[in-house]
Amino acid sequence: MSESIEKQVDPARRGLLVATCAVGGVAGLATAGAFVSTFQPSERAKAAGAPVEIDISGIKPGEMQVYEWRGKPVWVLKRTPEQLATLKETASEVADPESLKPYTMDLPDYCKNAANNRGHAGHEANLVVVGICPHLGCSPSQKFTPGPQPSLPDNWDGGFLCPCHGSTFDLAGRVFKNKPAPNNLDVPRYMYLSDTKIVIGKDEKGDA
Ligand code: FES
Repeated sequence: MSESIEKQVDPARRGLLVATCAVGGVAGLATAGAFVSTFQPSERAKAAGAPVEIDISGIKPGEMQVYEWRGKPVWVLKRTPEQLATLKETASEVADPESLKPYTMDLPDYCKNAANNRGHAGHEANLVVVGICPHLGCSPSQKFTPGPQPSLPDNWDGGFLCPCHGSTFDLAGRVFKNKPAPNNLDVPRYMYLSDTKIVIGKDEKGDA
């Protein structure tokens, strides 16, 4: 979205658009069968915002799986060493490399580290983010293949592209400079129960 159009969207309408787009994104993903349907809580508990326990053992390095928490898509990407290395390149190209300007959730302390890869301490290869674009709430697409391709720069290292207005995010979910999205993708509060089991929406401090 151009800057002039961006300015025409008042905050109240933007909130509505975000909510509408996010619900649409979840519905679309559900239709496409992209969600993993092994949620532990009941539907009623989920609607109330209960934490969700997920099993990430089936995700291969370099692959991502989509889960659902509070009606939002939550992505878990198992980053390869090569993918993690790209974050050094993108650090100077993203708008908020240290995630100092949160979208709707503060970056949890256990996801802050010197590499700014936003992975959980002890499990830094795994990226866990809410897959909702901070611009107007669309769900960005995976663009993990590096190199020139439509709608992306020639030096693309892999990341995510929002199909609505072209915001791009690196493999830590950090938005690139001069894009419509004003913030990085949210990192929810979560905790590891084991190397392969995560609870989304809860950590050592309690429920999110
Ligand atoms: S919703 Fe506008 S760039 Fe993502």
